[in-house]
Amino acid sequence: MISPTQPLIITIDGPAGTGKSSVAHMLAMRLGLEFLDTGAMYRAAALLAIENSIPIDDGESIATALASTTLVFDWKSSPPTLLLSGRDVSPFIRTAEVTEAVSPVSACSDVRREMVRRQREIASAHPRLVTEGRDQGSVVFPDAPLRIYLEADARVRAQRRVAQLRAAGHVADEASILRAIQHRDHVDSTRAVGPLRIPTGADRVDTSHLDLEAVVSTLEHLARERLGARLPIANTAVVRH
Ligand code: DC
Repeated sequence: MISPTQPLIITIDGPAGTGKSSVAHMLAMRLGLEFLDTGAMYRAAALLAIENSIPIDDGESIATALASTTLVFDWKSSPPTLLLSGRDVSPFIRTAEVTEAVSPVSACSDVRREMVRRQREIASAHPRLVTEGRDQGSVVFPDAPLRIYLEADARVRAQRRVAQLRAAGHVADEASILRAIQHRDHVDSTRAVGPLRIPTGADRVDTSHLDLEAVVSTLEHLARERLGARLPIANTAVVRH
């Protein structure tokens, strides 16, 4: 018999700017699952390299440094806070410096091997999970019963980023942001290990013309349709279709 307490993993992959993190966190809350932000783990690896003056393309040295470092989430906060050697690194992993360094760091095979191992270990301890990244449905959890690929037009993603930056009081040039997004898409999807791919059999959702609420509702609907008996009964106060 299927029980709403058995292991259940939903993967969400896609390029930068599709709103994956917010979508995955909100979906996890609505479905009563935990949330894993694997981009934050790669960002922490990039921060570790920067702080220890390790070249950002020296995967072997970064993986060695990672091996003697604890990288754990504090699951009591929502979304879970990432602790690198016990230090809350949330304020430092989204800076421009880390964002620039993380693409080459995440292309290193030694770093990816270590991260994939840690992500599977996290899933053993937290088996009811919405996990988001670039390779979650294709490499890390290919047997997950629901694998989603979020996509959005690069121009729309650039406009969203500009709006975010301006809302935070920064000056933002749309043309250069669009070029940076296109460059990151290219690097993420052409790297040799764990490239950004649409997982075979994944459900593709184009978010170009949907707001956050509409994306989360679409995914919640999909999850309940496919995995109904494996999920807790919906709290109708928060479910909107
Ligand atoms: O989603 P994000 O922007 O926080 O991801 C940061 C970087 O990490 C981005 O360059 C893609 C990379 N990444 C990855 O290679 N594999 C993942 N599972 C998650 C993120």
